Amino acid sequence: MAAGRPYEGFFDINDVHEYLRIYESHVRSLSGGDEKQVHRTLLQYGRTKGIIHDLIGRNLSTDEGIHVDPESIVVTVGCQEALFLTLRTLRRDDRDALIAPMPCYVGATGAAALADMRVLPVAEHTAGIDLEDLERVVKEAKADGLRPRACYVVADFANPSGASLDIDTREALIRLAEKHDFLVLEDNPYGLFRALDSESTPTLKALDGDRRRVVYLGSYAKTGLPGARIGFAVADQRTASADGRTGLLADQLAKVKSMLTVNTSPIAQAVIGGKLLAHRHSLRSANARETELYQGNLRHALNELARHFPDDSRPEVTWNTPAGGFFVVLTVPFAVDDELLMHSARRHQVLWTPLHHFYGDGRPRRQLRLSLSYLSPDEITVGINRLADFIREQCDVQSLQKGIS
Ligand SMILES: Cc1ncc(COP(=O)(O)O)c(C=O)c1O
Repeated sequence: MAAGRPYEGFFDINDVHEYLRIYESHVRSLSGGDEKQVHRTLLQYGRTKGIIHDLIGRNLSTDEGIHVDPESIVVTVGCQEALFLTLRTLRRDDRDALIAPMPCYVGATGAAALADMRVLPVAEHTAGIDLEDLERVVKEAKADGLRPRACYVVADFANPSGASLDIDTREALIRLAEKHDFLVLEDNPYGLFRALDSESTPTLKALDGDRRRVVYLGSYAKTGLPGARIGFAVADQRTASADGRTGLLADQLAKVKSMLTVNTSPIAQAVIGGKLLAHRHSLRSANARETELYQGNLRHALNELARHFPDDSRPEVTWNTPAGGFFVVLTVPFAVDDELLMHSARRHQVLWTPLHHFYGDGRPRRQLRLSLSYLSPDEITVGINRLADFIREQCDVQSLQKGIS
């Protein structure tokens, strides 16, 4: 229950061939049957900002109610590259800083470290980012001569916490960004995996409209095919670059990308483009099977936890109840570190992730993350049985130690 990977049972190599063929015919018909153009588009070096930006634009308007000019979309090698390009572009000198709610996805803090950008931690509560703390951090940073350039946030089923922001918090976050002049980097790899019959809360980017405070970071790793490594950034802000010229932030990202990966593989883009075409630009219905599995796994894990640790039971173990996504966070009566993880792996044959990895300060917390996306319900039953044995054993060790001291 450590790997936050998508479920592999639905992967099919034949899909790749089919999607490639669909995209190939799409290019052929767009170019009026020009075979040279088909070859060039798929097999030659290509446009730095990518070739499936139109299809991504339609996908965003169909599934997320986000309506943007495709010129503001940069297709990237996974969302991870989009994150790095954005941070590297925003970082001009060492006064520039990224605000990040803690615990935070390590890919975001890791990309900030790679871009040599300082991270300002902000507290998170059960309903996501603590806006009061955010405002305090921004004011203090400015008083110290820093420039908080952006706030990173996963508004839907965050990694690792599973928390989601309600609509009022989303609105308030955008208003704060306007008031204090920073951008919001909305990373949304899990938003689609909510209950099939549930209403979605609008993304920050959909709420943003003409304010253009939000840079949207997308990933097709969970909704498309992880092996294609396709993600994107929507950066429709008009900003001044280092040389003083005003232009689209997307174009500044593309400048950095041209020195990093040149362009995203057109073959990989064609696979995702073909999938979007095959499903009329909507991945919500294309992922019905996956959503059902992830929702089922989540419910099953929560039931299994309740079976092992009913209300008022000892030891006291609690957990949050996300409405979707891949993760649940457990709070246990002892601090968890990597040494305990090794013990859990060796002795109890179960893996999970100590939460301190998502704080970046190395200080063990009494919390751990369970990933439920990669497993079958039977494996989850076995995993939680083993985890419960591990937790009871550690509580016994703790009371013994207390008794001795
Ligand atoms: C919150 C979050 N953002 C981004 C990513 C990475 O996305 P990609 O695989 O598209 O690079 C992940 C992957 O686990 C993630 O959890």
